Amino acid sequence: MPSAQQEMIDPAPSCRDERGPASDLVDHVIKSRFACRSFSDRVVPRDLVEEVLEVARFAPSGANIQPWHVYVVTGARKDELSAVLLKAHEEARDQYRSEYQYYASPLPDPYVSRREQFGRLFYGSLGIQQWDVPARARQTARNYSFFGAAVGLIITIDRRLQVGSWLDLGMFIQNVMIAAGARGLQTCPQETFAKYHALLRGLLPITPDEMVVCGMSMGYGETGVVDTGSLMPKAAVADFAHFAGFADSADHGILTENKP
Ligand SMILES: Cc1cc2nc3c(=O)[nH]c(=O)nc-3n(C[C@H](O)[C@H](O)[C@H](O)COP(=O)(O)O)c2cc1C
Repeated sequence: MPSAQQEMIDPAPSCRDERGPASDLVDHVIKSRFACRSFSDRVVPRDLVEEVLEVARFAPSGANIQPWHVYVVTGARKDELSAVLLKAHEEARDQYRSEYQYYASPLPDPYVSRREQFGRLFYGSLGIQQWDVPARARQTARNYSFFGAAVGLIITIDRRLQVGSWLDLGMFIQNVMIAAGARGLQTCPQETFAKYHALLRGLLPITPDEMVVCGMSMGYGETGVVDTGSLMPKAAVADFAHFAGFADSADHGILTENKP
């Protein structure tokens, strides 16, 4: 039993067992998550998906309102959903529209540069030229078959809720991906599904109050792809965080520099 003093030194004594500190495991699962776009056809049992959701539901939410709704499809129901969306994507994609705007337009820097870098890296890795619109559309189409994953999720939120609840939803979605990753499952969050909400409503019991936010592919990744992991570079802490008041860091007056 640790003494009170030990507990003060080690802020999370219960996060340590014979396998070592939980931080090693948690950091590994977070850092090894990536947007997987190539899955094996290995079946994912319902129990496993329920286990993932069972963990994910512990996400925080403002005033604990828990604004998430998830539709989970597999097998013939998933294939039917994919077929309907793929047909629409091939024949009438201009007739469908997401109920929300994902990206700011115009997208300011540094985000626009990062998006361009994403395009170069992503399409480059697939051997698709940036200008090759048909090839890009074929790649986009793969979203609708959940990239071959055994399980597809459609995630919605009540449209009467405000932007704060979308924060809550993001935390839940990340929990889903982390809990899945800890169980050897790969995932890819997909806003591309929002565009076809009208069709999804005919296939799933989504109520008129719900807005389709995104989908998610979930399954066992193809071995080579899992070994490679994320292709995407991440900004360094110094690029997005400012520190102030710490004994071991220079304080550049950032808390006061904008004061009149
Ligand atoms: C909310 C959200 C929606 C996304 N939508 C799509 C999508 O529709 N299709 C897709 O292939 N990737 C999608 N992604 C994956 C991103 O492209 C990916 O997370 C990003 O490039 C960073 O790569 P990483 O996840 O491998 O770190 C989405 C990611 C998020 C968080």
